[in-house]
Amino acid sequence: MGAAASVNVEALALEGAKPADASDIGDTLEAAQAEVSRLRTLMSDEMGAMKEHAANVAAHDLHHNLGVDHTTAENIWDTYTRGKVLGEGVTGKVYELVNKETGDRFALKTIDKHLVQASMLHTLQEEIEMLKELNSPHIIKLYETFHEPGAIHMVQELAGGGELFDHLENQPEGHYTVHRAAIVIRTMLSAIAHCHELGIVHRDLKLENFVFESDHSEANMKLIDFGLSKKFSVARLRARGQSKSGNRDVETGMHSCVGTIYYIAPEILIESTGETAAGYTSAVDCWSIGVIAYMLLTSVPPFDSEVDAEIYRQILDCENALEFPPDLGFGTTIDSGAEDLIRSLLTKDPNSRATATQALQHPWITKHWKNEVAALHAEHGDPIDSPVLDKALLGSMQGFRKSNVFRKLALEVIAYNLTGQEIKGLQEKFEEIDTAGTGIISLPELVEAVRASMPEGEFEVGSENRASIEAMFDSLDTTHTGTVSYLEFIAGACGVVCSLPLLPPSNELPVVMQLTLLPPPSRFSDDAEADVGH
Ligand SMILES: Nc1ncnc2c1ncn2[C@@H]1O[C@H](COP(=O)(O)OP(=O)(O)O)[C@@H](O)[C@H]1O
Ligand SMILES: [Mg+2]
Repeated sequence: MGAAASVNVEALALEGAKPADASDIGDTLEAAQAEVSRLRTLMSDEMGAMKEHAANVAAHDLHHNLGVDHTTAENIWDTYTRGKVLGEGVTGKVYELVNKETGDRFALKTIDKHLVQASMLHTLQEEIEMLKELNSPHIIKLYETFHEPGAIHMVQELAGGGELFDHLENQPEGHYTVHRAAIVIRTMLSAIAHCHELGIVHRDLKLENFVFESDHSEANMKLIDFGLSKKFSVARLRARGQSKSGNRDVETGMHSCVGTIYYIAPEILIESTGETAAGYTSAVDCWSIGVIAYMLLTSVPPFDSEVDAEIYRQILDCENALEFPPDLGFGTTIDSGAEDLIRSLLTKDPNSRATATQALQHPWITKHWKNEVAALHAEHGDPIDSPVLDKALLGSMQGFRKSNVFRKLALEVIAYNLTGQEIKGLQEKFEEIDTAGTGIISLPELVEAVRASMPEGEFEVGSENRASIEAMFDSLDTTHTGTVSYLEFIAGACGVVCSLPLLPPSNELPVVMQLTLLPPPSRFSDDAEADVGH
């Protein structure tokens, strides 16, 4: 299609709702229907005529119930078989889990309650609940929990490509190229910005706690292991001899304690010496990302010694002790942009340290991200400046807007259960729209994405465009937070990769505008469905 095409929103909505193909979504659809039926009962039985209110309650209820909580562990082995060991951390081994019926693979982390400090047990459950609220392209999803008296089994999304620790070790020079390091650092910052936005501090960021979806060198990376390890009793772990990091002391020179000391922020050390009781904040995560960033670019830790006490001393004296290697191989030195970012993260005063959101705006990060987006377009055979929103994607989102509450909720259940591979293209779209990289889409970001997807000057034509985008944004934001989360975006956009029949229209808004779009890139065009599962 050479010329700009005039697109009818209603037609797009229907395009976004092709007839359901059971093989597309299989069990997921069944689960969605069960959830919808539960919510329908909730709404009709308990809420009576208060439909609007009920819809909001249902959306919140749904978001809290997406990760299923089983009060016993009885049925875990009815559903799953345990597979190979995926990795081992301070709390024990993490296994692959295979769903007996569907063959779908997950990761199983089991928390042995006997290893948890008694005083921490009561907050453990609360924190696990909080994990279910996290949804970002770069954070592992928690699907199900099974409880038994001595243990909690956590069924998580699987990322089978190994740890960042191993990926770094396997780099030809022992460190990443400047561009790849910038992208990996942006991924870490994006994941942690999302946590901090929700008031969650990870507290244990290190190379071992980032895992890749596949072996591919540019595979998507995800954060695991939320702050839980800090709840374990060091004495009990040692007694059980389960510190993997302990082995690594010998193998790689990496030292252990619960949370490797290389990554510890100065304020934690100050607190442990009793100099202050002020406690510490999300800034500790930003410090750890500074340490990891240094290691990705140089292959060595920024504060290093054979003796732990000397590492502590260097961390506390970071203003003087932070130096960059004079030669990174072939006579190259550290990139000045990278050095500037690392110094802003490895700032001793937590109040002056860059936050994750600020670091995401660092010119070194934004420059490399722009290049990355251009490279992704090239990889998909699209023009470098191809629009982020194409006909199919916009059609799916308009279709979502015109759906009644049940269809919206069903799509959210489906979105939650689609795997990273199934929605890879949509994840890329989300990240392109989320230009700030914070893991949520704001209204200005969506407006900008639509503007950039239209021919020069077309967007300014009338206020209907703006009103229509706002209406679309509001409908995607089912939880009314004023932003569109990753899950909400995928629910609105997943009509591109799978389909659910439109339920009889009840509360449709009138069509207010005609959108004129640039020719769509090939990514989600007619063959979009063929991409599923590849
Ligand atoms: N979802 C997952 N997918 C793939 N591997 C995982 C996953 N979760 C954990 N692992 C592997 O298991 C190791 C330990 O898991 P982690 O959650 O970090 O436990 P710990 O709290 O004991 O450190 C990780 O470093 C990683 O190698
Ligand atoms: Mg870990």
